[in-house]
Amino acid sequence: MKETRVFERVGVVGCGLMGSGIAQVCASAGYPTQVVELEAAPLERGRALIRKSLDRLRAKNQLTPEQAESALGRLQFCLRLEDLDGCPLIIEAIVENPTQKRALFTRLDQLAPPNTILASNTSSISITELATATRRPERFLGMHFFNPVPVMKLVEVVRTLATDEAVFQQALTFAASLGKTAVRTSDRPGFIVNRLLVPYLLDAVRALEEGVGTIEDIDAGMKLGCGHPMGPLTLLDFVGLDTTYFIANIMFDEFRERRFAPPTLLKRMVLAGWHGRKSGRGFYDYSDPEHPRPARAFVAGQQG
Ligand SMILES: NC(=O)c1ccc[n+]([C@@H]2O[C@H](COP(=O)([O-])OP(=O)(O)OC[C@H]3O[C@@H](n4cnc5c(N)ncnc54)[C@H](O)[C@@H]3O)[C@@H](O)[C@H]2O)c1
Repeated sequence: MKETRVFERVGVVGCGLMGSGIAQVCASAGYPTQVVELEAAPLERGRALIRKSLDRLRAKNQLTPEQAESALGRLQFCLRLEDLDGCPLIIEAIVENPTQKRALFTRLDQLAPPNTILASNTSSISITELATATRRPERFLGMHFFNPVPVMKLVEVVRTLATDEAVFQQALTFAASLGKTAVRTSDRPGFIVNRLLVPYLLDAVRALEEGVGTIEDIDAGMKLGCGHPMGPLTLLDFVGLDTTYFIANIMFDEFRERRFAPPTLLKRMVLAGWHGRKSGRGFYDYSDPEHPRPARAFVAGQQG
């Protein structure tokens, strides 16, 4: 059950895949929500993503037309960070680039009153590293949402050594007020979910490389044997091979453990531009998106 509002309003910076979803769930939970983008074109794309997502929920009777309209009415779209004035919580969801994120947080720190809480939705960059771009590390934390945000129930709330306990608690209560389940975690690469998921996905690629099974058999094995909704190679295509490769490298740099090392095959596929569903090809071929079929065999000696 949703709880009462924790903040007067919420700011979201970046309105791509994740930012649009975060803005949508905030507005749907009753928060006046200010969304900031770099330029008009991505801002319009983000607005369209939110409309489409609300329409989908309405079509499935998960929202009434009035609820969808009032969520849209709570959203304000703008191009200036100054328009975040009056938002006691600002959630950042811009591109996964530490230099750009740090520059943004330095700017937000200059603009926002000292008590404003700053949060990042980063999947792989150290929250501590981002917090040090500001003069308020005690009011800085991670709020890691999952894609698609309106559907996925989880938020990882990430504290650093410096995060104030009251700020951490407020973020947990805020996540609950969005109808999400929050888990508490600390600033370590991958937090909880990717820490456990990424080595599993990488192992599936190694199993394929070593000829343990075919693409279809590895996926079917984990679906039917473990009750997973999809197999690891299907999931990799969904998440994006480039994204997984990027995150694995960051985790390997930190831990220096083989289980986080990206397999050769994954690197070659990324180099070849086979990034999964979004590029039309990964472990599966999506030329017919409704009926993906396993792409050409990867293991020497196997027929494609
Ligand atoms: N995609 C996922 O499954 C996923 C899941 C969890 C977390 N994340 C994290 O969420 C963040 C966003 O990822 P995404 O998939 O939504 O990316 P995306 O590329 O879809 O969206 C990023 C948006 O940020 C905008 N932007 C870039 N710089 C900006 C700036 N300075 N000010 C305002 N807007 C700016 C871009 O125009 C773009 O619209 C990343 O940190 C990513 O690691 C992604």
